[in-house]
Amino acid sequence: MVPSGLFGWASPHVQPLTPVSEVSEPPESPSPYGDGPSGDAGVGVREGEGADDEDVEEDEVEPPPAAVSFWRLFEFADGLDWALMAAGALAAAAHGAALVVYLHYFGRSLNLLDSERIQSALHGRSDELLNQFKQHALYIIYIAAGVFVAGWIEVSCWILTGERQTAVIRSKYVQVLLNQDMSFFDTYGNNGDIVSQVLSDVLLIQSAISEKVGNYIHNMATFVGGLIVGLLNCWQIALLTLATGPLIVAAGGISNIFLHRLAENIQDAYAEAASIAEQATSYIRTLYAFTNETLAKYSYATSLQATLRYGILISLVQGIGLGFTYGLAICSCALQLWVGRHLISRGKADGGQVVVALFAVILSGLGLNQAATNFYSFEQGRIAAYRLYEMISRSTSSTNLEGTTIPQVQGNIEFRNVYFSYLSRPEIPILSGFFLSVPARKTVALVGRNGSGKSSIIPLMERFYDPTLGEVLLDGENIKNLKVEWLRSQIGLVTQEPALLSLSIRENIAYGRFATFDQIEEAAKTAHAHGFISSLEKGYETQVGRAGLALTDEQKIKISIARAVLSSPSILLLDEVTGGLDFEAEKAVQGALDVLMLGRSTIIIARRLSLIKHADYIAVMEEGHLVETNQE
Ligand SMILES: Nc1ncnc2c1ncn2[C@@H]1O[C@H](COP(=O)(O)OP(=O)(O)OP(=O)(O)O)[C@@H](O)[C@H]1O
Ligand SMILES: [Mg+2]
Repeated sequence: MVPSGLFGWASPHVQPLTPVSEVSEPPESPSPYGDGPSGDAGVGVREGEGADDEDVEEDEVEPPPAAVSFWRLFEFADGLDWALMAAGALAAAAHGAALVVYLHYFGRSLNLLDSERIQSALHGRSDELLNQFKQHALYIIYIAAGVFVAGWIEVSCWILTGERQTAVIRSKYVQVLLNQDMSFFDTYGNNGDIVSQVLSDVLLIQSAISEKVGNYIHNMATFVGGLIVGLLNCWQIALLTLATGPLIVAAGGISNIFLHRLAENIQDAYAEAASIAEQATSYIRTLYAFTNETLAKYSYATSLQATLRYGILISLVQGIGLGFTYGLAICSCALQLWVGRHLISRGKADGGQVVVALFAVILSGLGLNQAATNFYSFEQGRIAAYRLYEMISRSTSSTNLEGTTIPQVQGNIEFRNVYFSYLSRPEIPILSGFFLSVPARKTVALVGRNGSGKSSIIPLMERFYDPTLGEVLLDGENIKNLKVEWLRSQIGLVTQEPALLSLSIRENIAYGRFATFDQIEEAAKTAHAHGFISSLEKGYETQVGRAGLALTDEQKIKISIARAVLSSPSILLLDEVTGGLDFEAEKAVQGALDVLMLGRSTIIIARRLSLIKHADYIAVMEEGHLVETNQE
């Protein structure tokens, strides 16, 4: 898109011309850097043009990106926002109109300056001129005071409401994000991309719904006000100015079209030259070995000739375009003044009115031009809003927020003929006819090859997903009928890679639950973590996580065990907890786990023998189903 500036004229984005120093003598051998004969840069350029044509055609068939309507940008505005926007809009309109109103009074002041009145004022015969000037100066001071207040209200109201509305959008989005099914994260990835996409989209929306709207209203008020003031002062001059306007815009527009084309061509030519230099440097050994330096220099310098030619054309078109645009604008002013002279001599207008009509219409055109510059932001905001609102309106998690609870949990777990595959890869069966039963307060070790589906029973137990077929029971009740929050609070999960937030150790152990310091310390002692935590300089207040102290795997696991101890779950799921630890660390962690497992129904997923020797039962899994167990 060619940005439109004053009178529709704008300088294109053209790279600076590289001066071509003396071209070295052409080598005798043909250039290995171009397809055609050396120096035939035009070939490359013509190819580039051909490619451009194709691009243009592709652009034409591409449908515009989906966007919401302008008014839907304000979907999250509340009463106060609408009040702020109304005040901001009124202030912006007043601010925008003030300039042309000032012009009107300026014209009236000009009219006071007729020679008779000046003479009488100079000879002290009358104070009339002075008084009238004072009066007009006072009006202009009122306008200035109005502009001061209106400008302040305009900008602050729009910025404030923009911040308020986007804060709502941000928090709504995060709420929705946290309510999504696990399959959403499987599909979109949970690596933070969605969050950064949201941040940039929200910024685009914020830009579209805050000062830009104020700026648009402001400039449209200048546009409409300019037309009205122009027509009221001298409609003949105003209409004539309007009639010559399109000519000036057309002059700018035509040169812009040529400049846009030339700018693309020169960029292609630069790219071609750069590729020659790049090839030469990346294969520098071969180049030196074949003593082809001169050839490379010649090819590069020759391809720069094309950029020089385009540079000359650009300078011509740009210069002529600019000259024509402003020349025509001044010619138009001369024409209005000439016509104005006739109007004045016939008593149809006075000097001030002619000048005011002329400049009011020019200001009006500039206002329209400036108002149009906001359309790009509006467009970007509408496209970003479409993406974001679609996400916000996505159906939220299907998980049951209602449901029942079991007053006294025993902890009998049963997987009964469970079939399951992940939604992101529905064609691959993960569990097929899986049975497992964990008696209350007993420990079952689940073993099996990599990828046999052991870890996949954890999300099923936690109801991150539901089985395709079959059921998971807790104390004989299908977990689908249980309240999800309650169910999850009954389960303690410890994995090999525990998630530590960028908070203190104390907050990481509590993890959002209310707990006194004594309870936290008690949990840490049970998890055998108290020792190392107290040896830290800041103890439980030590910051960990990404920005904090780097803990060893063993320490991290101990903190996550303390977290599980604190929540005192009836069911424990341990997934390869000590899988990545060395022998010593494994023994230390195992000690903590033994205490934790006491009196809880536990499923240990493990590959090492040392882990399963504490289990009451062992179940072997293969390709998604149970193949062997020592349970009766
Ligand atoms: N979120 C997911 N989305 C899609 N496929 C997944 C997902 N998680 C695991 N899988 C696939 O499911 C299969 C079983 O994985 P699972 O992690 O349950 O096996 P595992 O027995 O725990 O293996 P390991 O011993 O390596 O931990 C694997 O093929 C894995 O690629
Ligand atoms: Mg696993």
